[in-house]
Amino acid sequence: MRDFDETNITAAVLDRFAATPDPRLRQIIQSLVRHLHGFVQDVEPSFEEWQQAIGFLTSTGQMCDDKRQEFILLSDTLGVSMLVDAINHRMPEGATPTTVLGPFYVQDAPELPLGAEVGHAMKGERLHVSGQVTAVGGAPIAGALVDIWHSDEDGYYDVQRPAEENATLRARFRTDADGRFHFWTLTPTAYPVPDDGPVGDMLKATGRHPMRPAHVHFMIAASGHQTLVTHVFAEGDAYLDSDAVFGVKNALIRPFAQQAPGMAPDGTRVDVPWRSLSYDFALKPL
Ligand code: BEZ
Ligand code: FE
Repeated sequence: MRDFDETNITAAVLDRFAATPDPRLRQIIQSLVRHLHGFVQDVEPSFEEWQQAIGFLTSTGQMCDDKRQEFILLSDTLGVSMLVDAINHRMPEGATPTTVLGPFYVQDAPELPLGAEVGHAMKGERLHVSGQVTAVGGAPIAGALVDIWHSDEDGYYDVQRPAEENATLRARFRTDADGRFHFWTLTPTAYPVPDDGPVGDMLKATGRHPMRPAHVHFMIAASGHQTLVTHVFAEGDAYLDSDAVFGVKNALIRPFAQQAPGMAPDGTRVDVPWRSLSYDFALKPL
């Protein structure tokens, strides 16, 4: 076939993919063509605008390396990551909701004993974190692996700091016989997603801010259960309703409660003001 124009090119391209042997690949590529052509028909870009779009995607790719993933950030800030997450985590009643993994997860964080202090020697307001891991329905899960990570009081993750600073606010804990865990760490703050690249330019050009509300990331793994990737957000944070990556869910918000100096839940004395956070997680069976 020849003589393609606005009225027949979409059907011709779809037809060219009709013999794709893998049916899933055929479905994906034909849907991509349908939506991409629909987008172009809708927007009717000028050549300059199309050039600009190609330039944006090119610089997004050029920004990526082993530490920075600008395409994931683009997916996050367009709400696509949360949409994929929602489609893949249709949870039963009572299960803890999921949210985005984000780019700052690092495998094999140090495994620490319950009650340990994460980031000790770093500065910041102390935060006592405790909770229980259960199956949906309430049965405690002993020996669940609770992986946590979060930003420091300036809003940076360790991987964003020079390697020689060597400070880290990430760790893994094993729940006790009752499925409980507890540890000390430092109170995280709201922070901007990396906005010195093309995604930051997109946010600026569209009048959006890059901020995420303060949160602690959790990844909880236990045999027989779906691994839970989620965060717990600070109640009252100014960015809960405008999270740059659309990750907030009501069920994931808890007070990072201000506490006066005195006795902490683990029986230790704290001489300065501190905070406490408690969250119970319910995992979906496999
Ligand atoms: C985070 O929470 O670490 C995060 C998630 C998505 C994009 C950037 C950061
Ligand atoms: Fe984060």
